[in-house]
Amino acid sequence: MAASAVRTTVTGALRCVTGNAVKRIFLPFGCIACVAVAGLPLRAQSQSKAGPPTYRNAKLPVEQRVADLLARMTGAEKAEMLSGSGWMESKPNSRLGIPAIKMADGPLGVRNWAGSSAVTNSPDITPVTSTAFPASAGMGASWDPELVERQGRAIAQEVKALGRDMILGPTVNINRVPVWGRNFEGYGEDPYLAARMGVAYIQGVQAEGVIPSVKHYAANNQEFERHRIDEKIDERALHEIYFPAFKAAVEEAGVWAVMSAYNKVNGQWCAENPHLLRETLKDRWGFKGFVISDWGSTYSTAGTINAGMDLEMPGGEPMRRWFSLPKTKEEGNGAGWLTADQVMAAVASGLVKQEYVDDAARRILRVMFMAGLFDRPHTAGGEVDTPEQRAVARTAATEAIVLLKNAGGVLPLGAPKVRSVAVIGPSAAVARTGGGGSSLVRPKYAVTPLDGIKEAAGPRIQVTHALGAAMEGEDPGRDAAQLLDEAVATARKADAAVVVVGYAPTLESESFDRKSMDLPAGQDRLIQAVAAANPNTVVVLVAGAPVTMTKWIDRVPAVLDAWYGGQEGGHAIGDVLFGAANPSGKLPVTFPKRLEDSPAFSHYPGADLHVEYAEGIYVGYRGFDKDHIEPLFPFGHGLSYTGFEYSNLSVAPASAAPGKPVQVSLRVRNSGPRTGAEVVQLYLHAIQPSVDRPPKELKGFSRVTLQPGQTQTVNFTIDRDAMSYYSTAKKDWVAEPGTFEVLVGASSRDIRLKGTFALRP
Ligand code: BGC
Repeated sequence: MAASAVRTTVTGALRCVTGNAVKRIFLPFGCIACVAVAGLPLRAQSQSKAGPPTYRNAKLPVEQRVADLLARMTGAEKAEMLSGSGWMESKPNSRLGIPAIKMADGPLGVRNWAGSSAVTNSPDITPVTSTAFPASAGMGASWDPELVERQGRAIAQEVKALGRDMILGPTVNINRVPVWGRNFEGYGEDPYLAARMGVAYIQGVQAEGVIPSVKHYAANNQEFERHRIDEKIDERALHEIYFPAFKAAVEEAGVWAVMSAYNKVNGQWCAENPHLLRETLKDRWGFKGFVISDWGSTYSTAGTINAGMDLEMPGGEPMRRWFSLPKTKEEGNGAGWLTADQVMAAVASGLVKQEYVDDAARRILRVMFMAGLFDRPHTAGGEVDTPEQRAVARTAATEAIVLLKNAGGVLPLGAPKVRSVAVIGPSAAVARTGGGGSSLVRPKYAVTPLDGIKEAAGPRIQVTHALGAAMEGEDPGRDAAQLLDEAVATARKADAAVVVVGYAPTLESESFDRKSMDLPAGQDRLIQAVAAANPNTVVVLVAGAPVTMTKWIDRVPAVLDAWYGGQEGGHAIGDVLFGAANPSGKLPVTFPKRLEDSPAFSHYPGADLHVEYAEGIYVGYRGFDKDHIEPLFPFGHGLSYTGFEYSNLSVAPASAAPGKPVQVSLRVRNSGPRTGAEVVQLYLHAIQPSVDRPPKELKGFSRVTLQPGQTQTVNFTIDRDAMSYYSTAKKDWVAEPGTFEVLVGASSRDIRLKGTFALRP
């Protein structure tokens, strides 16, 4: 439908060009009259006479179309492309028929986007509903890139259905500290895992002809003073920890857009940081798409363009209105620097080369052509929350769940042992689909854990409920002591108790960091009291990042982490608790015993607007391993209702020539009673390197689903990149000759098989 509409319009424009219908000058692509008025080069006019302009011809190569269109643009028109026209739209050009890029927030689904540009949170827009997918921390816990790709596709389909063109995601920032407010939006603490997931999401989105925007480049790891904080990060940590997911997005997924971060890195705001944007992203990695600023993160005209920024957002009237609010400036936002007049003035005064402006316009147009925005415009009115999209959300919420502890096989619940279940806690009867901020999706419906549990329990198991404790800011006027008493009484009467605890989007959110790693709202006390009343107490955690568990972990037999599970989170929890689904998630982040154990703890959040990432490359498990700190639950940990045996490790060749890969294979057998999926993890350890290297680093993983008794061979290839570290002296990756240990296991601290190989000089 959309494509034929475009063709009709093109024909109309052609008729206009041949001079038959001057009155049609309103047509989106202009006509000979307006082309002549605008004083376009004669070449363009004569081409128009011969047929549709080259750039409108969908059969021609993208670069040819871009070059043709650029040649038709005036300096002012090119300059106009560098800033948005609204809250979520780039600037259209009616003379040439360049549409606006219509954006929508993500990454956990399409963020509440209604019609033309407006501020997403504004009370005067009609809220739009779309599918709420699990938070990315949960998607990270699935270790299932194929699933993440399907999620990307499903989200992109909804972007199109709502008439938008671009989704502002994925977020691939690293979980550096457990209290970062946006941990739930990223894929955890490991750069390799984040890279695999980010690439999958981008591939899914781009396959649908929708523009993703991988964000926030770079090192957006805290909300505290996010607009002003200057992060001192050494080059090695940048390349080994904070860059890899962005690099993979460019080199492997050919990502179409990258969003810069709010913070400063090594003295310069990310939006005007030539080292990040021009030198690294564009020149070193060969990024061909466009850089978009985070909303309100620019502070100069020439500096920003020269650094490599292509599109400043937001723009136009909505930006001016927003920027007139005192709060916007107080928070440290900057905006309105790349308007056409300022860009042209900077060029005229020699502060900015015209070539940079051309390049920015070229990049934006290139992506628009690649995404088909000229040929197949996305019209609103499509279907969202389809059965297929719901199915992806439910599978994702299920695969996200990590079974952290299951002593005495208390799970799965069910007859004959369990005929009644008490469901307790401030997150039991509320569906917490995601964390707070620009990623929070408004779904059509959302299944609460309580409803999911009732459904999974079936009619023969009695399910009771008590609030137990009021989440901060919720259930005003409820007496804490009375709530606790009710919970204890409810738990005592049931065969098992499920306590659903955690955080809420009001407490774990973009714009601020969590106050601590502890559970808020007296939930520790609630768990202790319920556990004392019922020995079969299962804790279900709904949160985006680790919480302190030491006050009760030894008193409860089972714990599972459900993250923020999107609209189908409640179904997933019910299915796992009652065994309709076998848990297979693995932690994408280390759960420390105490916040103080986190390697970055003493280097967060900084003082006087400076923070030094003094832990360097020792983020997450890399730091726990180096300092021999016992975590509560290690990175990669996750149990199943079945068991897996690892055997027959082969590493070949034993001695590899430089640049040659090493092949690893092993056998995995489901030795337990149920079908289940295991995430086999491969870590590499350089023995006696000439520089400091982490005791182990994730370099491969494979998710295999096996029936009881089934065995499968799992293969990995260790290439030069996997063996390399980033040398600050050489300013490059170095694969140093020496011996490497190959560690294969079920978590970073449950290594089942070990082998070695040597890399020859
Ligand atoms: C967030 C981005 C988001 C943008 C637009 C910013 O505050 O950091 O992630 O895409 O707003 O809503």
